[in-house]
Amino acid sequence: MPPIKVALEQCNVFYGSLQVLDELTLNVKEGEFVAIVGPSGCGKTTLLNLIAGILEKATINCRKREVKASKVGYATQEDLLLPWRTVWGNILLPLELLRVKPDTSYLKRLLSISGLADFIDYRPHQLSGGMRKRVVLLRALSLKPDLLLLDEPFANIDAYTKIQLQRLLMKLLSNLRTTTILVTHDIEEAVSLSNRIVILSRRPARVVKAIEVEAPWPRDPLEARRELKDYINEVYGYVFNK
Ligand SMILES: Nc1ncnc2c1ncn2[C@@H]1O[C@H](COP(=O)(O)OP(=O)(O)OP(=O)(O)O)[C@@H](O)[C@H]1O
Ligand SMILES: [Mg+2]
Repeated sequence: MPPIKVALEQCNVFYGSLQVLDELTLNVKEGEFVAIVGPSGCGKTTLLNLIAGILEKATINCRKREVKASKVGYATQEDLLLPWRTVWGNILLPLELLRVKPDTSYLKRLLSISGLADFIDYRPHQLSGGMRKRVVLLRALSLKPDLLLLDEPFANIDAYTKIQLQRLLMKLLSNLRTTTILVTHDIEEAVSLSNRIVILSRRPARVVKAIEVEAPWPRDPLEARRELKDYINEVYGYVFNK
């Protein structure tokens, strides 16, 4: 049995009098890929911030709250690439902030897998939307995190580029096996990429249902969409009936 990396038990979070998480329990095992879906404004970003330990101005009351990760990679909902820095400079940022020496060959391998190797001197405004998303992913992985948090990493992207980015994520993770928590509005994405889907209620978020996806992993996201239709329908059922 793999060790537990994230253990949240009966967590309640309030912003002032506004309750955002309601007795929320979530356990994530090492190497697991968990997708979180739930209505807009229900508390998903708040949940990731709680796990990342960067939740500010909130009252937190958990029966248990343990995150056993020494390095957390977090691709936040707004992709905050620094416009004056190059691709390379943006990817190095987390390492500079934590004063970690870069593993140049690891970073070059990530850049080459992502098709960005020829663009390391470009600035964000010189990149396409899909390329920027790839830089955001690589920046979250540059620290070699033992926990990866992704908040809607492929939102507002055309269907074709989205599949390519999902394939890239699978490829990167199949090498790294990083424990991953992905927040997404896209139910097909949640099912095709994850080992488990956690469905949240409207605010204040509580867990409506957790569904294990019993299928080999890593997967090809496009094939998985076809093969895992029953799971996709099941998740739609919970999202729209409850
Ligand atoms: N810093 C804050 N101060 C006060 N209220 C906040 C703060 N951050 C979030 N909220 C409120 O908490 C609730 C949940 O917000 P959160 O960003 O976690 O939702 P979400 O599920 O990520 O939504 P979306 O899917 O639209 O990104 C919202 O009602 C929001 O207004
Ligand atoms: Mg959010």
